[in-house]
Amino acid sequence: MSVEAPRIRVLPADLVNQIAAGEVVERPASAVKELAENALDAEAGRLEIALRGSGIDEILVRDDGHGMSREEAALALVRHATSKLATEEDLRRIATFGFRGEALPAIAAVSRLRLLTRRPGDAEGTEVLAEEGREPVVRPAGAPPGTTVVVRDLFYRTPARRKFLKSARTELAACVRVVEWLALSNPAVGFTLHHDGRPLRRFLPCSTAADRVREVFPDVPLTPVEGILEGVAVLAFLGGPEHARPGARNLELLVNGRRVADRAIVAAVAAAYEGMLPAGALPPGVVYVNLDPAAVDVNVHPRKEEVRFVNPRQIYAVVRHILRDGLAGARAGGAAAGILPGPPAAVPPEETRPWRPPVPEPLGPRTFGLVPPPAPAVQLPAFPADAAFRSGAPPVESPSPGTAAEAPAAAFRPGSFAALVPAGQVFLTYLICEGEDRVVLIDQHAAHERVVYEDLRAALRSGPLPSQSLIEPLPAPLRADLLAVAEEERDALALLGFDVEPFGHDRALLRAHPAGLRGDPVEALRETLAVLAHGRGGERAVVERGLATVACHSAIRAGKRVSDAEVRALLRRMDEVDFGDHCPHGRPAWTVITRAELERMFGRR
Ligand SMILES: Nc1ncnc2c1ncn2[C@@H]1O[C@H](COP(=O)(O)OP(=O)(O)OP(=O)(O)O)[C@@H](O)[C@H]1O
Ligand SMILES: [Mg+2]
Repeated sequence: MSVEAPRIRVLPADLVNQIAAGEVVERPASAVKELAENALDAEAGRLEIALRGSGIDEILVRDDGHGMSREEAALALVRHATSKLATEEDLRRIATFGFRGEALPAIAAVSRLRLLTRRPGDAEGTEVLAEEGREPVVRPAGAPPGTTVVVRDLFYRTPARRKFLKSARTELAACVRVVEWLALSNPAVGFTLHHDGRPLRRFLPCSTAADRVREVFPDVPLTPVEGILEGVAVLAFLGGPEHARPGARNLELLVNGRRVADRAIVAAVAAAYEGMLPAGALPPGVVYVNLDPAAVDVNVHPRKEEVRFVNPRQIYAVVRHILRDGLAGARAGGAAAGILPGPPAAVPPEETRPWRPPVPEPLGPRTFGLVPPPAPAVQLPAFPADAAFRSGAPPVESPSPGTAAEAPAAAFRPGSFAALVPAGQVFLTYLICEGEDRVVLIDQHAAHERVVYEDLRAALRSGPLPSQSLIEPLPAPLRADLLAVAEEERDALALLGFDVEPFGHDRALLRAHPAGLRGDPVEALRETLAVLAHGRGGERAVVERGLATVACHSAIRAGKRVSDAEVRALLRRMDEVDFGDHCPHGRPAWTVITRAELERMFGRR
């Protein structure tokens, strides 16, 4: 009988670390996040982040935090070694970014890692070198107080992972975004980000979240909203519906300082806009949600990108309620446009780091460093127990009476727009037409957009959309993430009629745009890029999404006077296309009031 070696064996530590790294370190941005979070957990006041080659060649994160003793530094690269968690009870109330003792060994397993650290009170520092999965070398070294970690040649041992990385620009954009949201969640901490020696971002320490938000979103007007209800504190800075874009690209959700993707909060934001957002679109901005750490499980995702609320329905209801009230109040007060006005709210000195976990306990009015009014005793509206929420989709509001959604079947046959007689235009936006015992109200932009959209779709079947070349290329300042899209989706952009060339690290040159665009072609490009970036699918699907944006920018705007002749031309065109009821963004384009309804309104019936 031969003695066989057992087929099951315990994996060597290096291999275990590499496998763990596959989950924890997906791309350079995930390493930047882990290293920066460690620095924040070490109570750093300033973070210096320098990348080379989009973080693939090198990531350096330097902090002025509390540093490590030699003994601690030697343990830092050992799997499951952490200073942040000791008992099972701690795991239920995590108030630091880190808690697993996984990040450093995982990064070290797929790179060449050097750590240099010194506690402010120590005379000598420590250097730890880890390479090739070998036992780390630990030795004395001169070091400034704090910790510096340098990660070189990410994924050099795992070429398959390296192959999955996107373009250098996209990886860099992801790193920039990490720094931006860490800056948002830690306003009191200063951040600098360099790439290949060039400065990319610089956030000076701020005394309030509002100041930091202004730094991170310099171009978009954002309305501040805040409130505390049922122990959940919400602070948000949100853009108007006109700045909404598909998906959550420009919306950061920070739960107890941790950035997460969360359906309940997204649905609550959408619901708070009360039907003013195009379908699937979300406003830009940031929503901070702070609650008792025991009410949220952060240990549910390998890169901690999701959390699980003990009571997600409560979170949905509270966030929706606070945002809806705040946004409505801002609209009523006319504050929506001029945002974050006046000097930042004064903060008491001990509150200069309001956004560092742990969450203040008990949750009080100083939670945000701003001074929110005491929580009013508000009766929450009943939570909508609809299937849409459970599936994560924003709850659908039922259409109000008189919208196209219910009117046309009984009242008006599409296909007879041309027979209508234009009676006028109101608010420079709505066309009033009459015919066949009814008044038809048309949203000039939505209707024209639909017509243009169908035209463009037909044109696209036989090749790229007609394009208008510019004699002088137009410089288009773009955020790093959009610049990455401009590079990656060149073919789709060409089909849509855009000729764009990335230029430097913060702009592109626009050489041609779709013929027939109205308004600013750079704005049209920006929006198209944002739309192309959202979601996945083959080129066809990507182009389809861009088409709606090009149509939107080629259609008559709201706020523009139109002549009767133009209205008649539009009515004729509306008959030609398979009109449906909605513009490509999902809003109704027209609605009907019958003579009978009018007569009822005036008591004639
Ligand atoms: N910049 C730093 N300053 C001081 N101590 C640090 C720093 N980076 C890491 N450490 C120490 O090294 C330990 C291991 O770090 P690592 O990131 O691997 O795990 P963690 O942060 O505890 O948990 P997680 O895996 O969830 O991030 C930390 O618990 C901390 O004690
Ligand atoms: Mg960590």
